[in-house]
Amino acid sequence: MNIRNRTVLIVGGTSGIGLGLARRFAAAGSTVIVGGRNTGKIDDLETVEIDVTDADSVARARDHVLATHPELDVVVTMSGIMLMEDLRDPAHFAEAETTITVNLLGTIRVIDAFTPHLIRLGDADIITVTSGIAFMPFPPMPSYGASKAGVHAYTESLRAQLAGAGVRVTELVPPAVATAGQEKVNPAALPLEGFLDEVIDLLTATPTPNEIVVSAANRLRWAERDGTFAELLEARSQSLASLFGQ
Ligand SMILES: NC(=O)c1ccc[n+]([C@@H]2O[C@H](COP(=O)([O-])OP(=O)(O)OC[C@H]3O[C@@H](n4cnc5c(N)ncnc54)[C@H](OP(=O)(O)O)[C@@H]3O)[C@@H](O)[C@H]2O)c1
Repeated sequence: MNIRNRTVLIVGGTSGIGLGLARRFAAAGSTVIVGGRNTGKIDDLETVEIDVTDADSVARARDHVLATHPELDVVVTMSGIMLMEDLRDPAHFAEAETTITVNLLGTIRVIDAFTPHLIRLGDADIITVTSGIAFMPFPPMPSYGASKAGVHAYTESLRAQLAGAGVRVTELVPPAVATAGQEKVNPAALPLEGFLDEVIDLLTATPTPNEIVVSAANRLRWAERDGTFAELLEARSQSLASLFGQ
């Protein structure tokens, strides 16, 4: 996809991967607006306040962005939270509900808000964001994996439904990246800028792949196909010891 001369809204672009991607689009010559609840910390990009769990907030943000940027032609649904859950304690349901509300329903709500505009434009891109965990569970984060597997399945149907309407749909599948506290707990997390280098190479390839899977994400994305699923799941289940305090 072309990343120059676009007008891009990154919902969930106020920190981490989203902010890094926003700066890459801006550096390539695109106009970028980043959205989130905490916009005050951004001083180098245009911002819009948006809480993806709140339908009114999403509608307000949509109306504002389309009034100021009627040429908007790229929407990225980056908002996401990663919560640990102990499934032996039913109190985890609160985390499950929050996770599905932000990651899955929030993604659907933002896409719904902009799809009619993007179809009218007839030449646009939606980028959804899942995770290697959508394909290879990380047992301490059950609802997170479920939410991202849900976004993956939803993205496949969205792409099929929008085919022919001039709205292309691409799924970003990050592995662990050194943002959102990962840098403190996961030594294998990829440095953000190196990850973004690979993302931009794949995004700008012709044709753009339906899924942006950097090399470190391949073993997660394709574990089931490669016959390594059970072995990897067992290895990843070792992390449960810290969750259960063993
Ligand atoms: N880092 C990783 O290892 C990794 C791996 C795979 C996938 N991912 C995915 O990549 C995306 C970005 O993650 P990150 O690591 O960059 O985390 P991050 O720095 O915590 O960024 C999360 C973004 O989501 C926004 N957000 C959270 N709740 C929101 C809400 N209710 N309404 C609107 N925006 C909301 C935050 O903005 P505000 O706080 O301003 O609302 C922030 O901009 C997430 O979808 C995550 O699941 C990350």
